[in-house]
Amino acid sequence: MTDDRTDGETDPQDAIDAAAAERATERDPRVAERTAGEVQEGIPFIGAGPGDPGLLTVTGKELVESADLVVHAGSLVNSELLEEYCADAEQVSSIGKDLEELIPLMRDAYEDGRDVVRLHSGDPAVYGAAVEQMDALEHEGVPTYVVPGVTSAFAASATLRTQLTLNGVANHVAFTRPQGKTLDPEDDHIGEFVAMGDVTTCVYLGTHAVPETMDRLLDEGHDPETPVAVVYHASWPDEDIVEGTIATIGEKVEEAGYRASAMVLIGDAARKAGYERSYLYDGWANRGEDGADTEAEEGCSDD
Ligand SMILES: C[S@@+](CC[C@H](N)C(=O)[O-])C[C@H]1O[C@@H](n2cnc3c(N)ncnc32)[C@H](O)[C@@H]1O
Repeated sequence: MTDDRTDGETDPQDAIDAAAAERATERDPRVAERTAGEVQEGIPFIGAGPGDPGLLTVTGKELVESADLVVHAGSLVNSELLEEYCADAEQVSSIGKDLEELIPLMRDAYEDGRDVVRLHSGDPAVYGAAVEQMDALEHEGVPTYVVPGVTSAFAASATLRTQLTLNGVANHVAFTRPQGKTLDPEDDHIGEFVAMGDVTTCVYLGTHAVPETMDRLLDEGHDPETPVAVVYHASWPDEDIVEGTIATIGEKVEEAGYRASAMVLIGDAARKAGYERSYLYDGWANRGEDGADTEAEEGCSDD
């Protein structure tokens, strides 16, 4: 962590470049010294979870409750959570603000001795753009760390009462997004994940593009009967599910009128169809003296 301010402000891009250069030569000692979830010195980047205030972690809640300044992800963070846990704190939405505005705001408050938290929706590690803010803050001498949260794909899975990995159905999970302003068409891999067959494809940031995404999958020749579930506002009071197939879901989502804030799950796990009994509860755990290792407890085996 360096503080090379000379005239009060640093260009966030310079800070990001400097952090990348620093990381290329040495590992941040905190990586080995601190555990995930440990409260540390600095500004925590907290995963607020998918919406329900009860899905914020215990540590996240304690940090939010004691904060003086809460910078949050606008409408993606349930206002109920803000009212319940930090009604007395100064609350600032990050929507419409760039790094040039956000970084000095958080830095100055921290340097004034205020408890600052940065609240991201779901988990900051998934489409949260947390690292660039952390790098910019660290470059200005403000330490940061992450407090993980429940990502919306997990909440959507719970809504559907399924698993993202399901024995005999889905061995892999892909977190992805569709092509658009941010992603070039050649970097859209949804079709490749679907083609693998045993993947649950979780599409973030794609609610507005469900019909186009499904049309592309149909054009590419994927099975039109592949199940798709669109979970709007998972864990919020107005949570809703639209279920269909690659062939039908586009029209259904358009009819429902959802253009944002939904998780699109593609694959048989969305419908819990055709799964097989797992090894763990089928005598596998007792097959030998090493049977019940840590991974077996999670319902998996290494072989
Ligand atoms: C900017 S990304 C942030 C993702 C977030 N960091 C996470 O881990 O869930 C926003 C996208 O997450 C998904 N999302 C966020 N909250 C959701 C919820 N409660 N239910 C369903 N999808 C949600 C939507 O696909 C939305 O377009």
